[in-house]
Amino acid sequence: MLVLGFETSCDETAAAVVEDGKRILSSVVATQIPFHRQFSGVVPEIASRKHTEWILPVARKALGDAGCALSDIGAFAATNRPGLMGSLLVGLTFAKTIAWGERKPFIAVNHMLAHLYAAHLDRDIPYPYLGLLVSGGHSLICKVTGFDEIEVLGATVDDAAGEAFDKVAKFYGLGYPGGVVIDKLAQGGNPRAARFPMPNLKTLGKLGARGHCSLSYSGLKTAAINQLDRFWNPEFPRTNENIAAAFQEAAVKILTRSLFRAVDDTGLTTVVAGGGVAANSRLRAALAARTDLTCVFPPLKLCTDNGAMVAGVGYQYLSRGETSPWDVSASARIPAFKPAARRGKELP
Ligand code: KG4
Ligand code: ZN
Repeated sequence: MLVLGFETSCDETAAAVVEDGKRILSSVVATQIPFHRQFSGVVPEIASRKHTEWILPVARKALGDAGCALSDIGAFAATNRPGLMGSLLVGLTFAKTIAWGERKPFIAVNHMLAHLYAAHLDRDIPYPYLGLLVSGGHSLICKVTGFDEIEVLGATVDDAAGEAFDKVAKFYGLGYPGGVVIDKLAQGGNPRAARFPMPNLKTLGKLGARGHCSLSYSGLKTAAINQLDRFWNPEFPRTNENIAAAFQEAAVKILTRSLFRAVDDTGLTTVVAGGGVAANSRLRAALAARTDLTCVFPPLKLCTDNGAMVAGVGYQYLSRGETSPWDVSASARIPAFKPAARRGKELP
């Protein structure tokens, strides 16, 4: 069964043909980064206009690269939540329209489930495991028992990890997108150049039973942007490389500290990462150092937004005989993952 998956939740217009939820026959990602760079962030109006211009050529290229015709596709899938509303609607409406025209099933896919599924595309990973979902819009640690069965153990109480990378990079004029440039610059810097504060465990612990698995980035962001003097080690020159390395070190430590607590709590020893921040080299090294854990990262291309992960999840729903109704719409948000209140709830 071939599924053509579309992803337009943010600033990548992407489509991919995936066979049986596993084999990627094509994956086309048209990135809008050059259009948003001058604004150091995604401009929603530009994003949806570009999706509208590009979705048809991207879909055609995905079919061409896969060597198949539209009629070979067994089902169509598209991200419908969460994301920028105008952007989501382009991919969703486009995919529903072709599915309807071709008289084939359509499946609406949760972007976060798709990010988690990315690691499954090139290998079999047995459930249960701990999921680390870290992107520009979300950061959460969860117990995963199936492709759509997720118990959120801890989530960010303020900014997402990728958002912190992006904002710090924007403030220091390092470039765009922030995560990628900070990762690169950090390789030439010293992580000990500043000693940034970690989120207060007592405060996070008050969020509930597993509050200590929660994440918080606003303190680090404020420290790196407004209070650099306070945390800087004067033995080091204040170069962009050193700022990047020290910030990245703290950003990764926030993730690993809470993740390792989730490991201790659950006894699970497999960790699967997904989302743009899963491309971070320091995060990958920090998890690789835990030789007692099996840490699975998707290939770099599949960490950031792509259509293959959407097609993969679409196939999994189809295998269970589930499809989406034709009137399914988009949602900009999925409920905020407040660990105390939401613990035990699945991603909707
Ligand atoms: O998953 P994604 O492509 O889009 C969302 O769903 O948000 O993630 C984009 C985020 C951006 O914040 C970007 O700065 C961050 O992922 N990112 C990285 C790296 N590559 C992308 N963050 C840290 N290190 C990286 N190498
Ligand atoms: Zn994403």
